[in-house]
Amino acid sequence: MPNMKQVARMAGVSLGTVSHVLNDSAGVREHLRQRVLEVVEVLGYQPSQLARGLRRDKTNMIGMIIPDITNPFFPAVVRGAEDAAFGNGYRLVLCNTDNSESKEVAYMNELRTFLPAGMIVIPSNSGEATVQAHEAVKGGSALVCLDRLPRHWKGDTITVANAEGGRQAAEHLIELGHQRIATVTGPLHFSSATARLKGFTSALKKAAIALPPPYVQQSTFDGAGGYSAATVLLRLTPRPTAIFAQNDLMAMGVLAAIREAGLRCPEDISVFGFDGLEITNLMNPTLSSVVQPGYQLGSLGVQVLLERVQDPGRKYTHQVLPTELRLGGSVGPPPAAAARAAKRAVKRGAGTRP
Ligand code: RIB
Repeated sequence: MPNMKQVARMAGVSLGTVSHVLNDSAGVREHLRQRVLEVVEVLGYQPSQLARGLRRDKTNMIGMIIPDITNPFFPAVVRGAEDAAFGNGYRLVLCNTDNSESKEVAYMNELRTFLPAGMIVIPSNSGEATVQAHEAVKGGSALVCLDRLPRHWKGDTITVANAEGGRQAAEHLIELGHQRIATVTGPLHFSSATARLKGFTSALKKAAIALPPPYVQQSTFDGAGGYSAATVLLRLTPRPTAIFAQNDLMAMGVLAAIREAGLRCPEDISVFGFDGLEITNLMNPTLSSVVQPGYQLGSLGVQVLLERVQDPGRKYTHQVLPTELRLGGSVGPPPAAAARAAKRAVKRGAGTRP
């Protein structure tokens, strides 16, 4: 691996001149600058980021910690962050916690030893550990929290309009005529889950639609969680005619339980998800979902982090990105209404039969 001394020797300049050229940090006569750059290319010299970091007490690395790499929502967020980091000359290091708080803290403490420019964290739990780990190192790396808000976090955050999304999903089902609407929530220590539930319940309350306690099933943010919660809901009397699942993986689990019970979606039960995962467009029926802009969440996270790096004293910001409904084949009128509508259609047909 060629080093800076070899570059200086081959270019016939001092180490300081090579350093100034590589860091563009002082006026170097153009012919010397060109000579150094040619030698760097010929030797294939790569400045050591570690050495540069030790000199500057900071590298061009951004650490990103996500809670569940198996959930397709998070890779979309990472993709947005990685594109933004690379475009600004930074390199992203990805860590997956599997929703383990201890793993998250271990990653935060270890990443810090590499002198990152900053970190982006989607907390693995309520976020208390995130806050404590960050505050443990006063004046540590800049840190932005995405998607889930730690209760006592005093720093930059970016989420989506979770409550608004939950409200809109419920309102759509109400407009279709559903009166028995259940929901499968993620763990309610996540701010995203409590916000979605808040929006959902506000829409039912406004429409004076009852929400019996068993109609709210708390579970895990994955297919198995949606499946197990739906098996409980399908055994209730009266059975719900619609289910709002708080993410698309759960919605896929709900659909599996509906099929297994010999029921049909949406004829017997409508299903609404949250995230708007591309893959759900390949399902049959296609999933209606609240789309959240994962890529933009990650990209904006890096932008906010780099603004913090440039201006550590700037005012903290909390930004909320909008969600939007994407309607698919998984929602329709409730069975009774659908049956009445079908009868009316037949009667109309009878009147016009040739
Ligand atoms: O962590 C699970 C969920 O939280 C994701 O599906 C996404 O909705 C995020 O907000």
